[in-house]
Amino acid sequence: MRSSEIRELLELSQQPGVISFAGGLPNPNAFPVKEIREITNKILVDGSKALQYGPTPGLKEFREEIVRFVEKEGIKAEVENVLITVGSQQALDLIGRVFLDEGDVVLVGLPTYLGAINAFLAYGVKLVGIPLDDNGMRVDLLEEKIKELKSKGEKIKLIYTVPTFQNPAGVELAEDRRKRMAEIAEEHDLLIVEDEPYSMLRFEGVALKPIKFYNNERVIYLATFSKILAPGFRLAYVIANKEIARKLVIAKQSVDLCTPTFTQVIAYYYIKNGYLEKHIPKIIEMYKKKRDIMLSALEENFPEGCKWTRPKGGMFLWVELPKRISTIEMFKEAINEKVAYVHGKAFHVDGSGENTMRLNFTNPPDELIEEGIKRLAKVVRKRL
Ligand SMILES: Cc1ncc(COP(=O)(O)O)c(C=O)c1O
Repeated sequence: MRSSEIRELLELSQQPGVISFAGGLPNPNAFPVKEIREITNKILVDGSKALQYGPTPGLKEFREEIVRFVEKEGIKAEVENVLITVGSQQALDLIGRVFLDEGDVVLVGLPTYLGAINAFLAYGVKLVGIPLDDNGMRVDLLEEKIKELKSKGEKIKLIYTVPTFQNPAGVELAEDRRKRMAEIAEEHDLLIVEDEPYSMLRFEGVALKPIKFYNNERVIYLATFSKILAPGFRLAYVIANKEIARKLVIAKQSVDLCTPTFTQVIAYYYIKNGYLEKHIPKIIEMYKKKRDIMLSALEENFPEGCKWTRPKGGMFLWVELPKRISTIEMFKEAINEKVAYVHGKAFHVDGSGENTMRLNFTNPPDELIEEGIKRLAKVVRKRL
């Protein structure tokens, strides 16, 4: 295990006066406090089930609700396929516990989610990166890499991917690539970990089917309530084939016995009462506006030679600066100018990406986004 340098950088970004595009935080105004209070008041009665231990896979009625929820996205599941976890982060760790041995290869995006890098590295695996473009992971290169690694006798276990509004790049995996990735897993006897925290936060375009729709057996699907309800609940779910789900439950038993019952009961009523469905469009409206403010500010203020993604949803966009600029070296100057970001190298398992950075647009207040981008543009210009 290694300490996350990003956590240390995030501390710097929390100094007073710093406009931070660094964290991955939802906007606190997107938390449905009134409804949560109402439900909490109702469930807090003598002998409440919400205060008791629960089953390791999660409360049955909550899992049943999840089955109905994911069906709308094209995922066929039964209760036995569903495991409730303490955030998707726990699911990533449990997958590592069950599947990964030292020296195994896990294929990930270049760039990819830092939390997954850290979770998998803890099991001594080799992470191999597959480049992304505007349509997500390059599945042609994925296939080439698999063949190359296999010919060298490497043991590949998983493909890890965040298909929709990827963290950190904000891009979406195209439909034909989803299908192809599902086939590649079949042809090469691999599992896919499909991590989808952002798919519900779509500002434009049509929802695509999850990879799991194309290969139900081999895809372990993860989704979380962190971005659509509240990350403080620490609630997520895994949908996997029954054999895998059982193994993950056994692994979880020794970790924490069960996911907190209290937040499961609240989230259960939150979905059942129809609150979630009504709430998501409000988050989308808030975040779309913030994305638009950031995109126009970048357009107006950033110098030529810089590129960025135009995410159709989610929480992040990705900026590429001219090759000679190191966003690691630039970070101190940015903090001096009271603006923060996460440098892109952190998300690259091959040490590349030094001229890139991730910007979060959901957390800062609207009126600070433009000012933050102006400050950042000034720092970039100085470097140029
Ligand atoms: C791609 C991805 N996976 C997993 C997580 C972890 O989410 P959770 O709060 O459910 O642990 C995040 C959080 O930012 C994420 O971006």
